[in-house]
Amino acid sequence: MEVIIKRTPAEGCRLAARLAATLIHRKPNAVLGLSAGKTPLPLYAELIRLHREEGLDFRQVTTFNLDEYLGLGPNDPRSYHFHMRETLFKHINIPASQIHIPDGLTRDVPRACKEYDEAILAAGGIDLQILGIGRDGHIGFNEPTSSLSSHTRIKTLTQETIHANNRSFPSHNEMPLHVITMGVGTIREAGCCILLAFGEAKARAVSKMVEGPITALVPASILQLHPHAIAIFDKAASRRLSLTPYYQHAYKNKPSWQRYE
Ligand code: GLP
Repeated sequence: MEVIIKRTPAEGCRLAARLAATLIHRKPNAVLGLSAGKTPLPLYAELIRLHREEGLDFRQVTTFNLDEYLGLGPNDPRSYHFHMRETLFKHINIPASQIHIPDGLTRDVPRACKEYDEAILAAGGIDLQILGIGRDGHIGFNEPTSSLSSHTRIKTLTQETIHANNRSFPSHNEMPLHVITMGVGTIREAGCCILLAFGEAKARAVSKMVEGPITALVPASILQLHPHAIAIFDKAASRRLSLTPYYQHAYKNKPSWQRYE
């Protein structure tokens, strides 16, 4: 896993946006895996800026979001559909038919999950998957003990995740308990994964993911087995890492042909 430590979330997200934009320039019909949550918001803001000011073209891009709450429709302001529309999709020129997010209102969850995985395959697989990380080390909504080869399916949220994510919900009781999420195996199949983590609250999960054992107790640790995983942190999130001087040394001394910036 490549570890890159930036001074601020804004700097980290600018780098992630640059990597996504480079991919789209090289492959205009790229397939992006996207994440909801607060962490990637500056990345989406930068993609919108690149679209408006530098003509970054999303006409042929296809996207697949990681997850959605079960029971919430696309117009529910608490849903990830709504969140993604407001923070990214309505500001760029991606056709609606190329946007995919699990259906929180499906009446047949197993079938909807199977069809989601099939749609990813039919699109040619995900080229670049953007990830955040939960405080308990989850990616997507793959909570601790998730199968490391799972595909899209229903999961039950932990109390910790319910607590951490309930800021968009007026009361704790209204948080859905169940979600549909791409599996750890689905995420592993992406050509490249960029995981973003910022702030002190993520430091413990970050150190377990990067420097701990690969374990279903920390689903993000599966990225240690990914051939092309890039983790971008700010200083606060990287605070508990023990090999920081090495990560900084390696990034500073990348051969010119491998540099991102
Ligand atoms: C949710 C999402 C994850 C996200 C995590 C962290 O659980 N399902 O994909 O990474 O929250 O959210 P935030 O970025 O708001 O800290």
